[in-house]
Amino acid sequence: MKTQVAIIGAGPSGLLLGQLLHRQGIDNVIVERRSGEYVLSRIRAGVLEQGMVDLLREAGVDQRMDEEGLPHEGFELVFDNRRVRVALDELTGGSKVMVYGQTEVTRDLMEARAAAGATTLYEAENVQPHDLDSDSPYLTFEHNGETIRLECDYIAGCDGYHGVSRQSIPQERIKEFEKVYPFGWLGVLSDTPPVSDELIYASHERGFSLCSMRSATRSRYYLQVPLDEKVEDWSDERFWEELKRRLPDDVAAKLVTGPSIEKSIAPLRSYVVEPMQYGRLFLVGDAAHIVPPTGAKGLNLAASDVNTLYRLMVKVYQEGRTDLIERYSQTCLKRIWKAERFSWWMTSMLHNFSDEEDFNSRMQLAELDYVTSSKAGMTTIAENYVGLPYESLE
Ligand code: APR
Ligand code: PHB
Repeated sequence: MKTQVAIIGAGPSGLLLGQLLHRQGIDNVIVERRSGEYVLSRIRAGVLEQGMVDLLREAGVDQRMDEEGLPHEGFELVFDNRRVRVALDELTGGSKVMVYGQTEVTRDLMEARAAAGATTLYEAENVQPHDLDSDSPYLTFEHNGETIRLECDYIAGCDGYHGVSRQSIPQERIKEFEKVYPFGWLGVLSDTPPVSDELIYASHERGFSLCSMRSATRSRYYLQVPLDEKVEDWSDERFWEELKRRLPDDVAAKLVTGPSIEKSIAPLRSYVVEPMQYGRLFLVGDAAHIVPPTGAKGLNLAASDVNTLYRLMVKVYQEGRTDLIERYSQTCLKRIWKAERFSWWMTSMLHNFSDEEDFNSRMQLAELDYVTSSKAGMTTIAENYVGLPYESLE
């Protein structure tokens, strides 16, 4: 089997890259370890930056997003029993975000790919990249009981944090940067109307909470919980009670509760690997970096990596510009580190790091009070939240 770009992983990174390349006539094959149904069953993020919305349009998958997505022009910060609105559009000269679930983005991309007749091999086992530092790399894997060799020009490692791509780079050629936080997020999805039209990020002495949504009838809520907490110990009732305790009284009074349709705990982590390329392998999205979810940046960073690699591949195949290849990593990392900073900052400012009131908790309150009372502070939050501009290759 032969293709131009072999893509490992059919998450949002792999599917979006595949679709964009396909529309430019660049042949690609996606190889995915899981089944399509399994990929669609993962509940993940839900806030899209304008840059990602534009990229999805370029990929031709905007129809359902425009019909069902919810444009948001602001969100709320809650601390010290106060509610402060961050007016994204006013502070950024008209930018906003789109609330549309990653699951829906993935579904739209899968359908577009099937309609385009491009190849995705699901349930591929033992995927292995080879000869990355040569001019003719290839993948091997097992599919439907057959061993397949997929020859290609380039490999896009879109296989997430636990994927094989990053692990195929010799250890001495990369450096990892990591920060682990001493808590996780317990998330609940429920078919109940959202408590508010806009997202609410709430700091509280019992721990952080977030009120988000997927639609006018489906809500997504999160609670900061200790790392050793078990989902089984959280009945729906306990979750709702705890959420109410962490929200201002007027918000808690409006909360509509109901049975959860998904409940899971995710640890919080900041992680970056440098560089994001080795020979003809490029790392994209979660394969190269993780952010804590507090800034809603994970999926959006994956999209900006895809944007960079896509434009790079178009230059290579349409203009013969192979000289730009070496710039992939540095171009991506410039924007990644800024998103890492924002996610770390929001996490540090809004979560509870100690059971007692201490110097740190006073600093958090002073910082929240300062940034929300200053036009410059509010602009800093807003311009990072809607997404910093994409970096260009040259
Ligand atoms: N071989 C083939 N496929 C693999 C392998 C492997 N060895 N390892 C992982 N995969 C697949 C996974 O099954 C998954 O479908 O790669 C895909 C990676 O998808 P994601 O983890 O969703 O990563 P990505 O596509 O980069 O999406 C961006 O950022 O913050 C998050 O919520 C956000 O999940 C989103 C991610
Ligand atoms: C979500 O809706 O899942 C969500 C929204 C905003 C975040 C994180 C998660 O910052």
